[in-house]
Amino acid sequence: MSIPLGTVASMVHAAAMHRLTGRRRPINLMLALTDRCNIRCGYCAIPDRGAPEMALEEVYKILDEGRAMGCRRLGLWGGEPLVYRRLPEVIGHAKRLGMFITVDTNAHLLPKRFDAVADAHHLNISLDGPREAHDRARGAGSFDQVMAGIEAVRGRLPFWTITVLAAHNLDSVDWMLRTAREIGFLTTFQVLHHNDILGDNEELRPDDADLREALRLILARKKEGWPVVSSKRYLRRLIEWPDYRKTILDDRSKLFPCVAGGLYANVDVSGHLYPCSILIDTMDAPNARDEGLPAAFDKLGKAPCDVCLGGCFSEYNFVFNLDPETSWNWFRMMRGTRAASGRAALGPPQHGQPDLHASPRSAETPAGQ
Ligand SMILES: C[S@@+](CC[C@H](N)C(=O)[O-])C[C@H]1O[C@@H](n2cnc3c(N)ncnc32)[C@H](O)[C@@H]1O
Repeated sequence: MSIPLGTVASMVHAAAMHRLTGRRRPINLMLALTDRCNIRCGYCAIPDRGAPEMALEEVYKILDEGRAMGCRRLGLWGGEPLVYRRLPEVIGHAKRLGMFITVDTNAHLLPKRFDAVADAHHLNISLDGPREAHDRARGAGSFDQVMAGIEAVRGRLPFWTITVLAAHNLDSVDWMLRTAREIGFLTTFQVLHHNDILGDNEELRPDDADLREALRLILARKKEGWPVVSSKRYLRRLIEWPDYRKTILDDRSKLFPCVAGGLYANVDVSGHLYPCSILIDTMDAPNARDEGLPAAFDKLGKAPCDVCLGGCFSEYNFVFNLDPETSWNWFRMMRGTRAASGRAALGPPQHGQPDLHASPRSAETPAGQ
């Protein structure tokens, strides 16, 4: 099922009211169910965090309170949500509340545990490129497992992929797009974030010029009609970013002010409430389990930054500021992903699109267009 029009309408309404009156409502909640993970990625230290998990009833209570406050979309993540035994119950509860539910996953457990996510609406599957590139970041054997996971979900549940661009895969952009077209899915790209729980990622840090070139290529491919979900505005932001070692910046743009803590928020595995996941463990956080979500959300301060490299957060900020270009892009992608997930986009390039086998890596489009 693609995102219901009613959900879209209530999000647009909340965004407009926030703009006009400053009214804050967590219409989009991200919830980390566990820090545990079945794999170790070179750019992620979340499993080292190992924070205590909430009881199922505590999770339910936060969801109930979130729904009463207007939450319409729940993003489940971790760690790896599929190692969280009660995942089906959490999804079932959120579904009964009428939320649109997405799950971030490395896909390894999907062949065995598809039933655990069967009631979700959409999956975000991590895929970093062909075998060598993917396994370098995510461990030997991971590529085969994620491809088996994609096969298990293909045609059964809408999904798209998340590719983290770094030193291991900058030359994999066209492989990703060809594979997306051949198998039939859409792709998102993001760059490395750095903080205490993700690590400094020195080993995988790409050369800045090479990263910009890969980003220009993705923007060019999107303009050509390849299945790139990431918006042009986000890709342009990435291309123009002054220093990729910094994930957040102050005061860069007043055009699309950050609405983290205003229209969306992140609950960590122990119930701490943060404006977004990039800020976990970097600031004092009220606890939604102990104080209740309404009180915690009241206390939540504004994020101590204005702009970030974060993929989903940048996109949320564009969309929740009602930017027409990005909003239209996301609406089309969310509506289109059902059609793309394992059913369409098969076969050779369509008329008017380049054959990427013949054109392995070239960016024709200058930055900023
Ligand atoms: C933290 S993971 C959790 C879900 C699941 N375990 C997975 O691997 O997809 C969510 C997403 O964040 C991405 N990620 C992890 N560390 C990152 C980093 N340092 N910078 C950017 N993205 C990162 C992962 O690749 C994944 O797509």
